[in-house]
Amino acid sequence: ELPSLKEIYAEVFYVGTAVSPYQLAEPDCISLIKEQFNSMTCENEMKPDSLLDKQTTLSDIEKYRECPAVHFDKCKDQLEFAKENGIKMRGHTLVWYSQTPEWLFYKDYDTSGELADRELMLKRMENYIKSVFEWADSEYPGLFYAWDVVNEAAADQGKAMRDCLWLQTIGDDYIEKAFEYARKYQPAGVKLYYNDYNAFQINKQLEIIDFLRPVAEAGNIDGVGMQSHIGTWCNTESYGEALRRYNTELGVEISITELDISKDNSEDWQKTQGDYAQKFMEKILQLKSEGVPITSFTVWGLKDTMSWKSNESPLFFDGKMNAKPSFYGLVAAKNPD
Ligand code: G3I
Repeated sequence: ELPSLKEIYAEVFYVGTAVSPYQLAEPDCISLIKEQFNSMTCENEMKPDSLLDKQTTLSDIEKYRECPAVHFDKCKDQLEFAKENGIKMRGHTLVWYSQTPEWLFYKDYDTSGELADRELMLKRMENYIKSVFEWADSEYPGLFYAWDVVNEAAADQGKAMRDCLWLQTIGDDYIEKAFEYARKYQPAGVKLYYNDYNAFQINKQLEIIDFLRPVAEAGNIDGVGMQSHIGTWCNTESYGEALRRYNTELGVEISITELDISKDNSEDWQKTQGDYAQKFMEKILQLKSEGVPITSFTVWGLKDTMSWKSNESPLFFDGKMNAKPSFYGLVAAKNPD
């Protein structure tokens, strides 16, 4: 019988997976989620382009000008599934440059017209966060334990904030504002996160700490999410140092939010990937035992064939739902024999 990650790590942290509608249509995926995980993230269904209700918003621009309408049709099945099975949720994601409709940033919600100004976009941001949090808290009280408030705000190269429509319309305090509003409306028990990929790379790391410092000083952030779309090339020592630095510099907890490990070019890539998965998890456990508060560990999907990077086979089960060496690496890190 397959060992269960959520049982092995019950005393350590939540163990989660990203879930999509495609998975919930397959019985073998459903049983695997129930058996292995006690945390879920909607892979796409709680992003702004899923929640913003374009039709209603456009039906009465004056009424919705400062408060775009939202609907929750796309994520409901997943939230029901989580609730029924005692699985907690990470909310993903509120303020992001991507998977957010462009019309949101225009005064009349019309991309051929003029951009909204700072005051209007601040109102829309505040009301969007408020609407999502109020809905989640009234329909699913206690289900969510964390939310990605801002996602991927750092540029890929060098030290800079990513250029995006949030930055262009509001200005470079848009991250501070997002966290201020999130703190104002957060349901009880929810941790507020900044989430990013390659957040261990030194330039990106320093930039993130720079722009999150005022947020931390205002007491408006609880955690940094390390997405961790990596490969065996990722040095676990510097990765570990990054986690420690976020914790000491910003006083926040840490979550691994989107782990996948792309295969390398070796012939025996399943073994290399498995060895790396074990080494990676051992590093996480070492940091945790040294006092770095790591509270959840999420893998970005179930089986390789359904991964966003399916040609790199980065997950822990293969297309036939067989556990890969990478799965057993995660197991062995806790119970080395
Ligand atoms: O829903 C449409 C469907 O109607 C259409 O037929 C189909 C045809 O391509 O596309 C479907 O939408 C796709 C969606 O995934 C659902 O499968 C989008 O094209 C595709 O772009 C989208 O990709 C998602 C990606 O975010 C978008 O940025 C991935 O599934 C999702 O895994 C990925 O997740 C992100 C995290 O949110 C943030 N961190 C990075 C991570 C990986 O890119």
